[in-house]
Amino acid sequence: MEKIVSLCKRRGFVYAGSDLYGGLANTYDYGPLGVELKNNLRTIWWKKFVRENKNVVGLDGGIFMSPKVWEASGHLKNFKDPLKECKECHARFRPDKVDDPNVCPICGKKNLTEEKLFLGMFRTFIGPVEEEALTAYLRPETAQAIFVNYKNVLDSTNQKIPFGIAQTGKAFRNEITTGNFIFRTLEFEQMELEYFISPDSDWQKDFDFWQKNMRDYADEIGINMKKLYAVDIPKDERAHYSQKTIDFEYEFPFGQDELWGLAYRTDYDLKKHQESSGEDLQYFDPQAQEKYLPHVIEPSLGLDRSVLAVLCSAYREEEVSKDEIRVVLQLKPEVAPYKIAVFPLLKNKEKLVKKAKEIYQDLNKQYMVFWDDRGNIGKRYRYQDEIGTPYCVTVDFETVEKDQAVTVRDRDTMEQERVKIKDLEKYFDEKLAQ
Ligand code: GAP
Repeated sequence: MEKIVSLCKRRGFVYAGSDLYGGLANTYDYGPLGVELKNNLRTIWWKKFVRENKNVVGLDGGIFMSPKVWEASGHLKNFKDPLKECKECHARFRPDKVDDPNVCPICGKKNLTEEKLFLGMFRTFIGPVEEEALTAYLRPETAQAIFVNYKNVLDSTNQKIPFGIAQTGKAFRNEITTGNFIFRTLEFEQMELEYFISPDSDWQKDFDFWQKNMRDYADEIGINMKKLYAVDIPKDERAHYSQKTIDFEYEFPFGQDELWGLAYRTDYDLKKHQESSGEDLQYFDPQAQEKYLPHVIEPSLGLDRSVLAVLCSAYREEEVSKDEIRVVLQLKPEVAPYKIAVFPLLKNKEKLVKKAKEIYQDLNKQYMVFWDDRGNIGKRYRYQDEIGTPYCVTVDFETVEKDQAVTVRDRDTMEQERVKIKDLEKYFDEKLAQ
């Protein structure tokens, strides 16, 4: 894990939040490469969960919602953790998560408060004067914006049950247990889908369908499938709204833990919002000529945990010679921040630089391409290996003086082949489409 954290910082995937000021616990910032990786994972998710299903549409709900939403959804009542506080060092901890609940896990003293319930939602105020302001909560899940808009979407589109509404966006939780890097953070991104079905339909069939989609997505983004487990969560450990939950757990370097969740939320949320708002949220089924409150299947995926699982799955250390180890991120081309890197063999030879720039500009129209003319070729290869770039293209003297071809080097096999410049576009179309 330390090696991955260090690579992330060194190469610009992820930095500690507020690094300049010594950091802020459990917050992180994504650097230039992290942003690309994250965008790629989100785009593939959107394609797989939204675009490829004609009965799934998107939504971009606001982070600020009426506090009534959280009252109705049960979060204000249930989204709480039992905590003890140390009277000596003021650390707060969950008694059920430590070896000895009667001793402070930070300072070791036994001067503790009784167990108290601690709200996991962040509170803020809307309005300029705090005393008169409205208390608002930062959303702990994106899902509620979907439930609150379910009727709007039905009324404004041609969707009929079964149909889904999907959303990606930030969620916030005042987490107490310290996280493992980007595994558990205060602010994170979710990719959620609420799939509305008839209460009389076979919910298990839809549950299985979305479970398969989640597995396929894991495979597509390059998660090591041998380290991925579907775990049936027992009733007493499920969220308050769930009748069945399958967690996808991944064997992270720090242990096996939850990557994503899939829940059968029944009509819990729509029923609560119907009661609380007084609006009729029933669906009229034109075929059966009856009204009902739909039930919901919810695949919920954390984007940051996906980034972490992908990085852990891709990280390799290979012995290339007796005294050299190469670090390589074997990212799938679809998720890699850069697909190709282009180099002139020497940076002070103008004709090499000119030709390499032409190739860079051409390829860059279609792909994310990295330009590098620093140091020597060996160092450039190692750098690209570390950031997971699948192919490197080098322009050398033969290119300009002899064969109008370049050397293409494969990240994983380290094999090199000569490819004519005029064939490069076709070559990469084939390679990167695989
Ligand atoms: N709407 C359902 C829901 O929010 P959840 O299991 O509480 O369910 C879904 O969260 C996913 O969000 C998790 O499986 C995980 O991937 C991600 N997630 C939850 N809390 C997180 C945190 N503090 N930091 C990073 N990701 C988190």
